[in-house]
Amino acid sequence: MTRNVYVNGEFLPETEAKVSIFDRAFLMADGVYEVTSVLDGKLIDFDGHAVRLERSLNELDMRSPVTKEQLLEIHRELVEMNGIEEGLVYLQITRGAPGDRDFVFPDPETTEPTIVLFTQNKPGLADSPAAKKGMKIISIEDQRWGRRDIKTVQLLYPSMGKMMAKKAGADDAWMVMDGYVTEGTSNNAYYIKGNTIVTRALSNDILHGITRAAVLRFAAEAQMQVEERNFTIEEAQKADEAFITSASAFVMPVVEIDGVPLGDGRPGPKATRLREIYLEESRKVAV
Ligand code: PDD
Repeated sequence: MTRNVYVNGEFLPETEAKVSIFDRAFLMADGVYEVTSVLDGKLIDFDGHAVRLERSLNELDMRSPVTKEQLLEIHRELVEMNGIEEGLVYLQITRGAPGDRDFVFPDPETTEPTIVLFTQNKPGLADSPAAKKGMKIISIEDQRWGRRDIKTVQLLYPSMGKMMAKKAGADDAWMVMDGYVTEGTSNNAYYIKGNTIVTRALSNDILHGITRAAVLRFAAEAQMQVEERNFTIEEAQKADEAFITSASAFVMPVVEIDGVPLGDGRPGPKATRLREIYLEESRKVAV
């Protein structure tokens, strides 16, 4: 079925939507993005994604072509038009298409940013069989650039990481820098030992996950201890449980790291409970 998408002020069938070959994101990965999940036809954590988008744009001296209120309206309209009950909304803003290739940023007075949104229909996103099975993880070296806190569309290395995992018979990769785990290819990484959740602290080394912020808040409310610090793969392999978080996976249990099963090799009770709490609580405040 043909989706309706949003491009630079217009809602169009996907087959009619066009972006210039000179677009800075196409030529130089000069763009930022957000992925927001949809449950019950409503947006999950929209505010957090909008705030992070603003931050990513500011860090790159880019401006948004729309206000936060307009952005919410565009998201809602697309979800409605495409009849999405469960799925994702992808949003990308780029530095625009100056009409030629140049390393120097184009003048923002004359080059409008490009904005694109599309939906991805994913029935069963919340009741995912993967959450009951758990994920197998491999570790790989983190070879990304140094500003991973900015959500840019430079996703080649994470994409290669996902392929390395697939080739190794695993589901995803955790990236390691100077001996310590940074994050997953498209998610934040955690382990649980006893009543304590361990995850890397926020810095330029990782993306400041919107799901991460909510899950850590819910964990503290559920009387779990949260330690934001560096950890190694070896430490995580000795944990009782592990999990990842992202807007598309919510909370997803990890059952194996570099071939070593965690606990009894099945999704742990605490990660499973955190998933339930996250889904329950975020549905309540969805817009
Ligand atoms: N990825 N770390 C990285 C590198 C990510 O790409 C993502 C999200 C996260 C989790 O952030 P959040 O909880 O705000 O989704 C962490 C999205 C889902 C993607 O690229 O599809």
